[in-house]
Amino acid sequence: MFPADRPRRLRATPAMRGLVSETRTEPSQLVLPLFVAEGLAEPRPIGSMPGVVQHTRETARRAIAEAAELGLGGVMLFGVPERKDAVGSGALDPDGVLNVAVADARAEVGDALVVMSDLCLDEFTDHGHCGVLDAEGRVDNDATLEVYGRMAVAQAEAGAHMVGPSGMMDGQVGVVRAALEAAGHTDVAILAYAAKYASAFYGPFREAVDSSLQGDRRTYQQDPANAREALREALLDVAEGADVVMVKPALGYLDLLPLIRSHVTVPVAAYNVSGEYSMVEAAAERGWIDRDRAIDETITSIRRAGADIVLTYWAAKVARRRR
Ligand code: PBG
Repeated sequence: MFPADRPRRLRATPAMRGLVSETRTEPSQLVLPLFVAEGLAEPRPIGSMPGVVQHTRETARRAIAEAAELGLGGVMLFGVPERKDAVGSGALDPDGVLNVAVADARAEVGDALVVMSDLCLDEFTDHGHCGVLDAEGRVDNDATLEVYGRMAVAQAEAGAHMVGPSGMMDGQVGVVRAALEAAGHTDVAILAYAAKYASAFYGPFREAVDSSLQGDRRTYQQDPANAREALREALLDVAEGADVVMVKPALGYLDLLPLIRSHVTVPVAAYNVSGEYSMVEAAAERGWIDRDRAIDETITSIRRAGADIVLTYWAAKVARRRR
């Protein structure tokens, strides 16, 4: 007798589907990335990311206050400095745009959400690389680590609850943990960009942060062909003291989420990156796909694959819609 079983019974009504839904997403599991630019009088729209802006200090404060009201888990702050140099000095300056934005965020919301700061030099260097360069123009791993340690302390001093080392230098999590401990910031957590790929899907982000990069980051970010290497990176980061490990981008790398999830005990995050955002926005603008459904499906898929936390430019939009 066929059909022997009828899975459609559980899909018959919205209530039935809600009852058996395996994956839910709460605003508290979402993190909103925000760009704060130095010297802006008005927020500046980012052409390649419709709906996303470079914030002024003031509008960033308002966006962060709203994020807290919406119950988001956190904000991830990126700074866009007016001046850059070869060693990224703006990253260490307590008056540098990112450190000031972190301090503003804490003043605005206190502990109501988790204030996270990107810990990387690419926004601050005139060559656009994530680290400092050696005499031959190569990214110098160990010289960069020294700067990351100081950057972590500067961000902790500004008030960051969690720092996000994203430069893919070997040993970065260990150096950041040691620097934070030595400075007495034992409570500042580390969200490690453990498996970060050299991805074309960061394209719009480069406009968002006025990136000066020529060339690519393939000597430090991972090859999209490799999965085992992602696990190796994640295990190293946990051993070095990561409190959360992250996979980035999310959609092309969903296979890594259950892999990493099953090998570590810390929370796993995934970064739904700029290109993933902009593709949906561009298609929705043309009426080719239903924006809200595509957004929900994107975030649900990332959660279903195994991410505990999702960084997404849609975080506030999704939370607002649930109201
Ligand atoms: C590096 C950094 C990048 C992103 C987050 N942190 C860009 C890069 O590695 O080139 C990309 C985020 C996105 O595309 O949404 N600080």
